[in-house]
Amino acid sequence: MDRGTDIPLQDWAWPGEPFRLVAADVAAADWAARLPLEAQERAARFTDPAARARAAASEWFKACWLPQELGLDRVEWKTGTHGKPRLAGGGGGWGFNLSHAGGYVVAALAQGVAIGVDLESLARKADVEALGARVFSASEREWVRAGGRAAFFTLWSQKEALLKALGCGWANGNVVRGTRLEPAAFQEEPATRVRVWSRRVLDGAYALAVAVF
Ligand SMILES: CC(C)(COP(=O)(O)OP(=O)(O)OC[C@H]1O[C@@H](n2cnc3c(N)ncnc32)[C@H](O)[C@@H]1OP(=O)(O)O)[C@@H](O)C(=O)NCCC(=O)NCCS
Repeated sequence: MDRGTDIPLQDWAWPGEPFRLVAADVAAADWAARLPLEAQERAARFTDPAARARAAASEWFKACWLPQELGLDRVEWKTGTHGKPRLAGGGGGWGFNLSHAGGYVVAALAQGVAIGVDLESLARKADVEALGARVFSASEREWVRAGGRAAFFTLWSQKEALLKALGCGWANGNVVRGTRLEPAAFQEEPATRVRVWSRRVLDGAYALAVAVF
């Protein structure tokens, strides 16, 4: 199988950050052709072509990029209680997570920690007020009141990365509404002690956040 070592990847990590952060333009390759059969089948379940291409690129990160990074033939997975896929076997000491949005997939990898990543397209239609009221804490709603849509996407991506690092996703309402995130480039969120890096990428078109626990 050609694992696609020729695929152009973008290194999104900044110097000194304690994680690998690598992104791919979904339009840059025929991902499905490079995948093992079961990964091809998972991606093929999506009927919308854009969603199918994003899923195939995500499968490529898991089946091809990750084993190569870890020096393994293949990686093994365990699934946590809220569906977070975790590395097992030879990759067991590593944290890995990925996010897909618009035309991009981004993968984050770090040793000895739990990691979460989130990418949000600012072009995404979202009822900022209604969503914010559901998931933000009082202090976070203040930031969004002051900073509008831009602040909403910053805090939303931070929160999702944090929830993905913890593995609980949006299911845990206490964690979801208990954080006190701020629109900072780096912070340690006080309620969870999760460290969060946050910025715009791709000429400001996407909000990106990485959380490490
Ligand atoms: C995990 C979750 C945050 C994904 O958010 P999303 O915006 O749809 O998707 P993203 O592109 O950012 O991330 C998807 C990737 O995260 C990973 N993932 C899946 N479940 C995860 C979890 N519980 N924690 C961390 N990462 C998870 C997967 O790799 C997935 O991509 P893949 O299926 O292609 O491998 C969201 O689905 C969630 O909260 N799930 C938990 C269950 C839950 O709360 N359900 C009620 C929803 S209201």
